[in-house]
Amino acid sequence: MPDDGEFQRRLARHRTALVAALTALYGTLPGFSAWLDGFLASLAARAAARAESLAARDRAAEADPGWFLRPEMIGYSCYVDRFGSTLEGVAARIPYLQSLGIRYLHLLPFWDVADGDSDGGFAVRDYRRIAPRFGTLADLAHLASAMAEAGITLCADLVLNHTADTHPWAMAARAGDPAFRAYYHVLPSRAEADAYEASLGQVFPQTAPGNFTHVPEMGGWVWTTFYPFQWDLNYANPAVFAEMACLILDLANLGIGAFRLDSAAFLWKRLGTPCRSLPETHEVMRALRAMIDIAAPSVLLKSEVIAPVQDAAAYLGSDAYPECHLAYHAGLMTAGWAALAEQDAGTLRAVIEAVPPVAANAGWITYVRCHDDIGWQPLAPQAGSPTTGFDDASVQKRLRAISDFYTEGKGFARGAAFQSGAGDAAHGINGMAASLAGLETARTEPDIQAAIARLMLLYGLAFAAGGVPLITMGDELAQTNDWSFQHDPARAHEGRWLHRPNFSEAASVRVSDPGTLPGRVFAGLRALATARLCLPALSPATAPRLVAQAAPPVLCFSRGPEIVAAFNFSASDSKLSVPPGPAWYDILASQKIPGSDVVLPPWGMVWLMQEIV
Ligand code: GLC
Repeated sequence: MPDDGEFQRRLARHRTALVAALTALYGTLPGFSAWLDGFLASLAARAAARAESLAARDRAAEADPGWFLRPEMIGYSCYVDRFGSTLEGVAARIPYLQSLGIRYLHLLPFWDVADGDSDGGFAVRDYRRIAPRFGTLADLAHLASAMAEAGITLCADLVLNHTADTHPWAMAARAGDPAFRAYYHVLPSRAEADAYEASLGQVFPQTAPGNFTHVPEMGGWVWTTFYPFQWDLNYANPAVFAEMACLILDLANLGIGAFRLDSAAFLWKRLGTPCRSLPETHEVMRALRAMIDIAAPSVLLKSEVIAPVQDAAAYLGSDAYPECHLAYHAGLMTAGWAALAEQDAGTLRAVIEAVPPVAANAGWITYVRCHDDIGWQPLAPQAGSPTTGFDDASVQKRLRAISDFYTEGKGFARGAAFQSGAGDAAHGINGMAASLAGLETARTEPDIQAAIARLMLLYGLAFAAGGVPLITMGDELAQTNDWSFQHDPARAHEGRWLHRPNFSEAASVRVSDPGTLPGRVFAGLRALATARLCLPALSPATAPRLVAQAAPPVLCFSRGPEIVAAFNFSASDSKLSVPPGPAWYDILASQKIPGSDVVLPPWGMVWLMQEIV
């Protein structure tokens, strides 16, 4: 248990930030200062309840605030049931994760959900209960401590933006309790809903069009950004903020070391705006961060904001106003797939150039895909160019062409369109990385080799580009699309199940055989992880700097003075001009670079290190 002096010291240090953010959000409401006192008291109680092992972790994190950005930090993301059946089953896979070099495990939501469709666990009925089929809170605490012993940080999904319509708060609201009705957004008339709708986007335009659902018992239209059974919480109500903030601390006290703040961009609403990433949403992030710094400083917050790079970067905050520790680099991820489709790294370069400086001790999650679709809109600001123009129609046309490349089945890729929007707008695509990279269609050894090269190229980028790399379950085993969802009435309507397969036991026992597909890809990822270990300059602390190249398909950047990484997005050989300087050594191929020009094979990459003479 931390002593009170420790809590008071942290409070003294971060109180101003916490109070400033909460005052910006709720300062004008009657009773604010009494509410604030109550909130601070609940933080103190939760900090005092922290186990000694967690308090020790907190002290270590305070002494080394960039601990999670070290090169050995490699992440893995999976569903509990699809990976290990239960929380206990996930614990049993720790040795497997260790064999891949994993130090951070993100489990998709495992909280109690209603029967039927739960949007893959994102419609939570009870945040303080585990879905019975996965286990109990005791199993979670056990998993967290087993992970900690193995040096793996456990990241839980925290669905901040909404609850299931069967959550007790929603049930009480339906039953007419005004206190709980105020937990949600209810618009009495369709005209009022339409007034908001005029400036809102749509997340699921086909399966859940619109952002409001008529609920007769609520006497109006409930805000439902996602599915009708997911009710958006009202963060303008301080009671909602306090509930969710205290929840985070209670779960952290069970040993959870990181939280993925799901759909963080949508938390605040204002008429006449897209209601995404509003300034108040950032105040919520700052308040949560200050709370963590005070009560549980080893806990990481990760924003799930799938947006253009400038908007996503804002969630990492600044030195003066820190927000989350980690944020998804959706721009880099989508630009990698765009480069593969276009055989041109121009958009990737534009994304890298657009990354603003972020706060010290904060960094990106760099990844190749996740459990969601790959949506192209984060690329819109960079998809224009002086030749194609920046106007909407040409940008959308270009994104549409990239999208079609993965879904039309004309080339190597096998993917499926996701919720295509109206007209020319490209919404997203589904598919396992291996299938999008060509493994599902490959029939000959050269085609297989090419598909593996493309998959490794994208993972090589994720491992080298200045973030905590995240592997999505199945990619390490070269698992391809799971088309079986089409025959399951419970999942057939939701195309994202295409890339949410069950963990392949059969493939996993072959990882040590280099003659097998899983063996080749697993070894490739291991090699990237091992190379990273010797290259502290690859940590997110130094940002990538572009190195100009004549060949459009070649992306080349340096990481500090002594590392250069280059990636060829072309189906042909491309020339790489190695920057002048002392001799370079190719770390992945373990060989010296013969001269100043290197030929990168189709979809080839090099990570170069200056030789110590
Ligand atoms: C996030 C999740 C996604 C889910 C949505 C609504 O975007 O990643 O899977 O559908 O939130 O909770």
